[in-house]
This record gives sequence, structure tokens and C-alpha cells, in this order.
Amino acid sequence: MKRIGIFYGSTTGNTEKIAEKIRCNLEMGLVDIFNVKYAEIKDVENYDNIILGSSTWGIGILQNDFDKFLHEVLKQSDLKNKKIAIFGTGDSSIYPDSFADSIGIIFDALEGKGATFVGEFPTEGYQFESSLSIFGDKFVGLPLDDDSDEEQNKLRISLWTELLKLDMN
Ligand SMILES: Cc1cc2nc3c(=O)[nH]c(=O)nc-3n(C[C@H](O)[C@H](O)[C@H](O)COP(=O)(O)O)c2cc1C
Repeated sequence: MKRIGIFYGSTTGNTEKIAEKIRCNLEMGLVDIFNVKYAEIKDVENYDNIILGSSTWGIGILQNDFDKFLHEVLKQSDLKNKKIAIFGTGDSSIYPDSFADSIGIIFDALEGKGATFVGEFPTEGYQFESSLSIFGDKFVGLPLDDDSDEEQNKLRISLWTELLKLDMN
């Protein structure tokens, strides 16, 4: 597997913790983690494999730091031939109509820039009304729900990272 850069935006620390867990499930020595607050174009361009993670705030709005990073760094970076996987944190019981929208917002903004998106995830087992993160009949990345228990998140992270090990080679 080639080196992976994980870039996360987190307001209260949830997405940061998930980013660490994802790193532990991959080959840790191959994975570097960046808080998007401090990440630059050269950091992004350094990796062939990129994992992006953001929470959703407001009603279906990207986490603050990630929003800035998306426009000022990611959209300005050369993403050709890179593999990108996206995860998002959200809360389906309080925000069922905009559940983990961050994933879909990031995907929409970067689609067409020459990267291949990997890490689609099935919707089975999630309870929500609507999400911008569904394309076809799957999530276009991995949503993690504040409402889920630790075991469920652990299982979803484990399934997802196994997929990434196959796709990010
Ligand atoms: C004011 C507020 C607005 C939120 N809006 C949404 C939302 O629209 N959709 C969603 O799925 N989660 C929403 N959430 C839940 C957060 O995304 C969730 O708590 C997440 O784990 C926060 O991660 P962070 O600490 O890494 O920023 C909201 C939470 C708060 C407090």
C-alpha cells in the first residue's frame, strides 16, 4: 500500500478521534494525519492516497475549518490520479434530514478533478430521512453517527478500512 494522508476538520474532537481510529486500522506506519487548519497544498499533493473527514454543522453545512480547506487548499491542488476516500461524522437522531451531508458536499466539490473516489458504504443499518451523501443507493463514503454505540462504529470503521486496503494500493 502507498502512503496515505488523512485530512480532518473537527470542532469538538469527534472527527479527530475517528481519524485516529481509522489510522490504527490501516498500517499505522504508512498513514500521516493532518488537522486541516494547518494543512497546505503541498501536504495534499504529497500523497497518492487521501482520506478526507469532516463533521456536519448548522443544517447540512461543512465543519468550519474543512470548508476553508476545501476552497483554499483542496480545490487548488492537483488531484489527478489520486485515490480519495471520504468519511463524515453526524447525528442522525437530531439531524435526520441532513445526516452526514459533509461527505456529499466534499464529493460534489471535488468530482471531475481527476481523482478516483473509493470507499462507498451501504446505507443498511442507518436510521435517517435524507442525506446529501447518497449517490445511487450507497453513501459515497463512510458516515459515523453520534447516535451509534462504540461497537457499531468499530465494526463500520473496520469494514471500511478493509475496503480501503484493497482499493488504495
Ligand atoms: C449545532 C450543531 C449542528 C449540527 N448539524 C448537523 C447536521 O446538519 N447533520 C448531521 O449529521 N450532524 C450534525 N451535527 C452533529 C455533529 O456533526 C456531530 O456531533 C459530530 O460528531 C461533531 O464532530 P466534530 O466534533 O469533529 O466537529 C450538528 C451538531 C451541532 C452541535
